[in-house]
Amino acid sequence: MKSFYLTALSLALGMFASVSAAGDLATVVENCNGCHGDDGVSQWSDVPTIAGVPEYVHADALYFFRDEERPCSEAEYKQGDTSRAATTMCAVVADLSDEMLDEIAAHYFELPFVAAQQEFDAGLAAAGKAVHDEACDKCHSEGGANPDDEAGILSGQWIGYLEATFAEYASGAREQDKKMKDTMDALSDADTTALIHYYASTTLVSSDGQQYRRREFREALRVHRCDGHGELSWFYP
Ligand code: HEC
Ligand code: HEC
Repeated sequence: MKSFYLTALSLALGMFASVSAAGDLATVVENCNGCHGDDGVSQWSDVPTIAGVPEYVHADALYFFRDEERPCSEAEYKQGDTSRAATTMCAVVADLSDEMLDEIAAHYFELPFVAAQQEFDAGLAAAGKAVHDEACDKCHSEGGANPDDEAGILSGQWIGYLEATFAEYASGAREQDKKMKDTMDALSDADTTALIHYYASTTLVSSDGQQYRRREFREALRVHRCDGHGELSWFYP
């Protein structure tokens, strides 16, 4: 009997310890913002802005990091207590529950995406727009600014992050939608550079009120993704 109580007690303590170690949403978000910037708006080219990122894409990204199915490189804290040890996206979310990851994604989706102010080459940007309109706008509409596409936000994202992302796709280190892969694999190095300058040049903001309008579609996408988790496939209307 005594050992039963001890076990129950240590289980309860263990649960308590893991809850407090993971923290509540505000604590977790404060940690994220140590690298991603206040309200998830990054000031650093190697760190993506996560404010306004479509909720389900964001949650998916976090699940993939937690499963170590997406490359995560070591990064230093950019603000707050910068003496904290460098860590990786995979480590940051390793102990967080599904519910917490969903809450985090919902939290950042409510915050406005703010386009990065960065230098770009206007000639390359014009060439990149042509490539984008031809190959990418189908899924990344409004120049990659429409959160309803559930395909991330490309317009106004940081060049450093985009360069790293294209390299991860090209090497196969980061998995991608099969149809997107066909398009990506057909790009020349010059196309890729041009696309990155195009996204850096645009500070498009999706038209007001569009978010949530296609909730039904988003719900369907969610179910589809959960069912096929690990198989990475997306569908489009
Ligand atoms: C130590 C710094 C650091 C911390 C802390 C951190 N991140 Fe990141 N995060 C990065 C860096 C750097 C990248 C880009 C490189 C990579 O993917 O590893 C990134 C990438 C991401 C991406 C991918 C963006 C995309 O559009 O696919 C998401 C989403 C993300 N982080 C969310 C979060 C959330 C949510 C938290 C808190 C739970 C968090 N990050 C904490 C540094 C950090
Ligand atoms: C068939 C639809 C489809 C096409 C075509 C497509 N994409 Fe995507 N793309 C997606 C989806 C869906 C995601 C979100 C993937 C995820 O959740 O990891 C995405 C993600 C991305 C990302 C990562 C965003 C981030 O925040 O990390 C980049 C960069 C990207 N696409 C670039 C392109 C470019 C450039 C083209 C054209 C050459 C293209 N895509 C064509 C569907 C597509």
